[in-house]
Amino acid sequence: MYNDLDRILITSDQIQQRIAQIANTLDNDYADKNPVIVCILKGSTLFFSDLVKNMKIPVVLDFISISSYGKATKSSGEVKMIKDLSESIENRHVIVVEDIVDSGYTISYLVRMLSSRNPASIKICSLLDKPSRRQVEVAPDYCGFEVEDYFVVGYGLDYDEKYRNLPEIGVLKPEVYSGK
Ligand code: PRP
Repeated sequence: MYNDLDRILITSDQIQQRIAQIANTLDNDYADKNPVIVCILKGSTLFFSDLVKNMKIPVVLDFISISSYGKATKSSGEVKMIKDLSESIENRHVIVVEDIVDSGYTISYLVRMLSSRNPASIKICSLLDKPSRRQVEVAPDYCGFEVEDYFVVGYGLDYDEKYRNLPEIGVLKPEVYSGK
């Protein structure tokens, strides 16, 4: 897999250090709130797992899976639900965990959809933020790293379902994805 990378952008140590800081902030912000932490499958699984392991307050874990209606229409912002949360979030404090906010369509759809269920509060926690690609006005409340417009993979992020299990985040060589 490493042969397909141009370079490592964020090392495993850097990721883990930043996660420890975010977890500490969340512990303080959500003390006594027993928040529901929502993992968006599949990209945020690694971040979600390390984040909750670093948190010291009680939390409830839940999972949701949504998908764009095929790559070609992704820019339209159309998404469909594959798997819903298993618990009600009414009157609960919700933290939605993402791996990356790119165009912003996915997270803004999710926040809109989950807000209609009357949570006590809803915040976005994203490991990566790529503001240069934004199509919708949305910003993570908690963010690990702001990145430039590189094709990043690893630590949950894929290209064609590959590279998700890399412990670091790398920049994919253009020849790997160009011409496909
Ligand atoms: C990726 C990523 C975010 C979304 C960000 O998910 O995990 O959920 O795209 O892009 P956006 O801000 O432009 O909407 P993807 O649909 O590729 O599914 P995955 O998490 O299973 O990789």
